[in-house]
Amino acid sequence: MNQLVKSKIEGIGKAIPSRVLTNFDLEKMVDTSDEWIIKRTGIRERRILAEDELCSDLAVKASLSAIENAGLTPADIDLIMVATVTPDMPFPSTACLVQSKIGARDIPAYDFSAGCTGFIYGLIMADNFLKTKYCNHVLLVGVEILSRIVDWEDRSTCVLFGDAAGAVVVGNSNNDSGVLSTYMSANGSLADLLYMPGGGSKFPATKESVENKLHCLKMEGNEVFKAAVNAMKESALVALDRANIKKEQVDWLIPHQANIRIIDFLRRSLKMPEEKVVVTIDKLGNTSAASVPTAMAVAVEDGRIKEGDLVLLVAFGAGFTWGSVLLRW
Ligand code: UT7
Repeated sequence: MNQLVKSKIEGIGKAIPSRVLTNFDLEKMVDTSDEWIIKRTGIRERRILAEDELCSDLAVKASLSAIENAGLTPADIDLIMVATVTPDMPFPSTACLVQSKIGARDIPAYDFSAGCTGFIYGLIMADNFLKTKYCNHVLLVGVEILSRIVDWEDRSTCVLFGDAAGAVVVGNSNNDSGVLSTYMSANGSLADLLYMPGGGSKFPATKESVENKLHCLKMEGNEVFKAAVNAMKESALVALDRANIKKEQVDWLIPHQANIRIIDFLRRSLKMPEEKVVVTIDKLGNTSAASVPTAMAVAVEDGRIKEGDLVLLVAFGAGFTWGSVLLRW
């Protein structure tokens, strides 16, 4: 019988650009204040990728760190997926560029777009590739260079976002650790609340498209906020229910880092103490598909997440998309 196997995270890594952009720096760029940004979002600073570096470069750094952490080499990787809305270019995929730059074998490599839920979507795809024994080691990267698509004159969005990459290697589990339950969903009727209109086939680049800033991220923050709190709560509860795990049993909540108020709402819904929630938004801002894996990498590296811990990952983003993964570390 072709028995389903369980997948687990074998290695994890992150890459954070060195340049820090603080709220005080932003005060000099747009009509905003450190006080407003902290109070409304929880963000104090974010990281910006150096001008001569690419999305694929940051993805490579996180990937090599995750592969090393797994005790593997690039030659062991069987498939590469990159979750991003800010690839180096529309095609070829950033995943193919990563494959070449890390010196992996000729293996499948592709990007996909699920906004800030990208890492969750990718982990669920990796889990299924592993379960069906299609491959043994999947490299999954969540990477965003949002500083390159933000309108730096729009105070309602430019204060929110940053650049980062997080990566994991997903492999087979032969013990209790691994993915216990998953959930993913989407609702495309709300697409125009968070989107970048230009750059695709609808609005190819023209002088007008550039002048009208169609190649920048647009967001109706208030509406996105309302949808996010509901979808994040639903996602968390479905993953717990599917694994028959009570919320009190969860050791670590790792939510998408969009706004500390959304994170707090989710935490209170789950009746979790603050100490059990991994928060990076103060230092990194919203890094979209990179936010969950980088937060997880931080908590693994600083020793908070230990073997056997129950970890709940939850995200919501453009699409709208949302989802969750419950796993035992
Ligand atoms: O990652 C994918 C999912 N994304 C999210 O989940 C983001 C969800 N949305 C949010 O996090 C929040 O809606 C924001 C942080 C984007 C905005 O916070 P808000 O409390 O919803 O503020 P608001 O948009 O209702 O704006 C309140 C006021 C407005 O002024 P008036 O109209 O009351 O005079 C804005 O013009 O704050 C003003 N404002 C600012 N003031 C200073 C907006 N941005 C700024 C700013 N600095 N940067």
